[in-house]
Amino acid sequence: MARELQEVYVVDGCRTAFGKARPNGAFAQTRADDMVVKIIRSLLDRNPGVPRDKIDDNIWAASTQWGDQGLTIGRTTAILSGLPVTTPGCAVDRMCAGGATSTCFGASEIQVGAADLIVAGGVEHMGNHPMGQGADPNPRFLAEKLVDQSALNMGMTAENLHDMYPDITQAQCDEYSIISQQKAKKALDEGKFGNVIVPMTVWSGNGWSVADKDEQPRPEATLESMKDLRYPFRVKGRVTPGNSSGLNDGAAGVLLASEKAVKEYGLEPKMRLVQYAFAAVKPEIMGLGPVPATQKVLERAGMKFEDLDVIELNEAFAVQAIVFMQEFGMKLLDDPKLNPWGGAIAFGHPLASSGCRLVAQLAYYFAEHPEAKYGLATMCVGLGQGAAMIFENVQN
Ligand SMILES: CC(C)(COP(=O)(O)OP(=O)(O)OC[C@H]1O[C@@H](n2cnc3c(N)ncnc32)[C@H](O)[C@@H]1OP(=O)(O)O)[C@@H](O)C(=O)NCCC(=O)NCCS
Repeated sequence: MARELQEVYVVDGCRTAFGKARPNGAFAQTRADDMVVKIIRSLLDRNPGVPRDKIDDNIWAASTQWGDQGLTIGRTTAILSGLPVTTPGCAVDRMCAGGATSTCFGASEIQVGAADLIVAGGVEHMGNHPMGQGADPNPRFLAEKLVDQSALNMGMTAENLHDMYPDITQAQCDEYSIISQQKAKKALDEGKFGNVIVPMTVWSGNGWSVADKDEQPRPEATLESMKDLRYPFRVKGRVTPGNSSGLNDGAAGVLLASEKAVKEYGLEPKMRLVQYAFAAVKPEIMGLGPVPATQKVLERAGMKFEDLDVIELNEAFAVQAIVFMQEFGMKLLDDPKLNPWGGAIAFGHPLASSGCRLVAQLAYYFAEHPEAKYGLATMCVGLGQGAAMIFENVQN
């Protein structure tokens, strides 16, 4: 029997603060699954109209699905968060776009009528799970030259992108990074993240404390302070700790609902999902991924780039953000449409969580900007992919 596709709404989105993935980081002694539980409970506490026994799936992404991120984290955290034991859950992985993928897969469950209420999210405790932990790439990748060795190191792929776009200089990347830091500082100072960041009580060697602030931002960064930073990825390179996203611990999630659930439970959705798309490029230049993903999602939505009022682009590296701006004719290096509240160079990038960080940030940006109708959330992905989602602001 043919059935119509259902509309999908984002009811809410939030994240933990993003800590530094190091022994003295805010979440160093906190489990990844407990961070997920915090987000699930926050989403449901903030939206009391949602019956807990009606969550149709709890979909969580992590790049490393092992230890405190293993054992099908969507199911473990459904139980740990106190959802009824009848709540199913699953785990997905698309590296940095894990949270974006859990959001899109949850949306598709709703679209085809398999679900009405979904919790989706992503987590990465990079302190517990350094990038690529336990991975065992098939030797054929290198032996048969399927990829260059640099494809397996994200910083090296950013250096490759510099080679491909020789006009983009380190000075531009540093300047772009300072702009991102300044935008984030302004938004944080103005209290824009009050609803986005959920405070979490955490244990450290010195007792309990509340983690409610990102540890990565460097609002004091200047061209002068960045000029002597090391090049971790290539001798005499252009990519530095100052113009890269960091290594972080964090979780982010969203609550999705069908139109039927919105009406039945009296929910106040923030955005409607218009379209999503994934695309891929050569792994050696993975930072280019958002370009074809954005072209594809626009084409599938029947929209033009100019129709977008705001773009949340995950800044894995400044060079990759500048390439995106250049390819779509945006105003270099500071376009008011791009990351108006700052990006990952300031906040950090706990891999699989970042897709939902973008969605939550967009939802609350929309709340303050009823004049903004359409927004894009997009990101690059290790091994050469791009993810893109278009949302419509329904808060006006
Ligand atoms: C670039 C990278 C290797 C740096 O790691 P790190 O050395 O642990 O980073 P830190 O934050 O300690 O910065 C290193 C130094 O630069 C300094 N620094 C960083 N940014 C700075 C800035 N904007 N201004 C001034 N100093 C800065 C730090 O203070 C630190 O100095 P110190 O060594 O004297 O303490 C790491 O962040 C990284 O790998 N990033 C990319 C992550 C990634 O690939 N994600 C996936 C994307 S697809």
